[in-house]
Amino acid sequence: MSVDRRRFLQLTGAALAAPAIGGCGGHERIPASGVPRSNFDEDSTAEEVTEGLDLSGKIAVVTGCNSGIGYETMRVLALRGAYVIGTGRTLDKAQEACSSVIGITTPVELELSDFDSVVACAETIRSLNSPIDMLICNAGMRGGDREQVYGLEKHFVVNHLGHFILVNNLLERLYLSWQGRVVVVGSRAAYSSAPDAGIEFGNLRGTTNYSVGRAYGHSKLANVLYSLELARLLKGTRITSNSLHPGVINTSIDRNEPGFFQFAFGVLTAIGGKSIAQGAATTCYVATSPLLGSVSGQYFEDCNPVTVLGDNHMHDAAQAAELWKVSQALTKDYLLEIKRPDWEDFQNGARRRSKT
Ligand SMILES: NC(=O)c1ccc[n+]([C@@H]2O[C@H](COP(=O)([O-])OP(=O)(O)OC[C@H]3O[C@@H](n4cnc5c(N)ncnc54)[C@H](OP(=O)(O)O)[C@@H]3O)[C@@H](O)[C@H]2O)c1
Repeated sequence: MSVDRRRFLQLTGAALAAPAIGGCGGHERIPASGVPRSNFDEDSTAEEVTEGLDLSGKIAVVTGCNSGIGYETMRVLALRGAYVIGTGRTLDKAQEACSSVIGITTPVELELSDFDSVVACAETIRSLNSPIDMLICNAGMRGGDREQVYGLEKHFVVNHLGHFILVNNLLERLYLSWQGRVVVVGSRAAYSSAPDAGIEFGNLRGTTNYSVGRAYGHSKLANVLYSLELARLLKGTRITSNSLHPGVINTSIDRNEPGFFQFAFGVLTAIGGKSIAQGAATTCYVATSPLLGSVSGQYFEDCNPVTVLGDNHMHDAAQAAELWKVSQALTKDYLLEIKRPDWEDFQNGARRRSKT
């Protein structure tokens, strides 16, 4: 019986490790060259990486603030003095999360699978008339029945296209920050379980070779490549864009999986994973470290920038540019023309609005 249980754990653990939570699958990672390294590592917590930082006056947006890594990210940024706008799929969820942390927060509704909701969320945030210092694209889903939204595979829509629209609709506010940062929470699944060809432009509906792990990895690769291309497009501005893997953490990310998968994930993360406090560290580090003011287009693990060697598309600039074009075409009805706003226009606009 005990052997059976061990075997069960081994099998389910192995099944989960690579596709579900982004095991590195033997890929070698080396420190990215020319980028400052931190003294933090896989054991560091979000509180530790932000210790001593005064974020008063900074404004952060955190998507998926009601659960797991997003909640801890919001909690710690608010603790350090930042004003955090936290999104949840319903206003109630966002409200409950926001009201449970110490600091100043505002809840906003955001359902990433509904592009009208994304636009409405961005409009609500823009109506606050504030710059944005940190835009943290954290929300994400994995699993459930194979589904299409807008005729496209659901992971790709929720994890990538929803945030693609959100960032586009909020970019003008990042220009108004002294140094705006877009932080995209990706995953090692981007190189451990994405399709060999990388982004499957001919299979965005997910009709061939579908598996949850593959679809999740595909969407997480889209996160990383999106951030890479955004960094290229923003070169010469003060806005940076970086992506990261948070670690393997027992959050609710597996909520759509069968019960025994959830059990195995729990066991696996208890043995070799990070705590949620550690899981939010890389996000908080990339969002706030004074060392990273001009670092852009990098991919981070364990609070440090890495280059992933071998056969993968993590640093594939050509595929990133293609993904951008395709994403733009797919979401064109929801995008704003990106222009660099004038600070004076913004102030005049704010004054005009406050008079009415
Ligand atoms: N946990 C890990 O081991 C791990 C590893 C690598 C990467 N990540 C990434 O880390 C990020 C945070 O995940 P987590 O582990 O903290 O999981 P989590 O506890 O499940 O949190 C995910 C958050 O995203 C929100 N969300 C899900 N679908 C959404 C949608 N359609 N529209 C808007 N929001 C949506 C969830 O809202 P509801 O609560 O309402 O569903 C929740 O707030 C994700 O991007 C995930 O891919 C996690």
